[in-house]
Amino acid sequence: MNTLSEHPPLHGGRFITFEGGEGAGKSTQVKTLVAKLRALGLEVVQTREPGGSPGAEALRDLLVRGDATRWSAVSELLMMYAARADHLEKIIRPALQRGAWVVCDRFADSSRAYQGAGGGVAPAFIEQIDAAVVGPTQPDLVLLMDMPVEAGLKRAEVRGDAENRFESKGLVFHERLRAGFLARARQVPERYRVIDADQGIEPIAAEVWTLVQSAFPELRGA
Ligand code: TYD
Repeated sequence: MNTLSEHPPLHGGRFITFEGGEGAGKSTQVKTLVAKLRALGLEVVQTREPGGSPGAEALRDLLVRGDATRWSAVSELLMMYAARADHLEKIIRPALQRGAWVVCDRFADSSRAYQGAGGGVAPAFIEQIDAAVVGPTQPDLVLLMDMPVEAGLKRAEVRGDAENRFESKGLVFHERLRAGFLARARQVPERYRVIDADQGIEPIAAEVWTLVQSAFPELRGA
């Protein structure tokens, strides 16, 4: 079966994802980037994972609440990709097909890091599912917000929301997933940019904008 050919072709949209561990400040940077792109008159869809479509948001509630052992890493992976399939079908692909920019807070690299590097699911299994579900709808640019694990967890703890199932998995887990993100960025250097997230909001936002402008020539000089 050639799963890739089942995916509709993309039509001129741009797909940017933000990745990183807990407390890296992704959400703030997503909002700032989206505002800058919209100010240029571009159509921008701001979205997130797990979630982003009504069906995927329902799965999100199951995934991010409860205690750390509620789901095994394999169950998590399959639920993450079930949510992702719905999000791609309902939101991301239609947006890219009409030429919109999509900015997503977490995407498939979070599955590689959290369920793969952190949770121990075999990379080959993840790539098989990814090929079937994401296929050619890979991000054009992945911005990895990297910072020391303990500082990130402290920031996330201060935030103190109910969606803390992954935060409660312990330091070793979070060290493994940080290493997983960085290894992935090294493997696919043409699409990945690593940002030092252990600095203020303003300098990070400036760096994000520089990286986005250099990745997309149509934004240069904007
Ligand atoms: P998110 O709300 O982005 O958390 P944060 O506030 O830390 O940015 O994501 C919820 C949690 O889901 C987060 O702990 C990471 C986890 N996650 C995975 O484990 N696998 C995945 O594929 C995705 C998208 C998220």
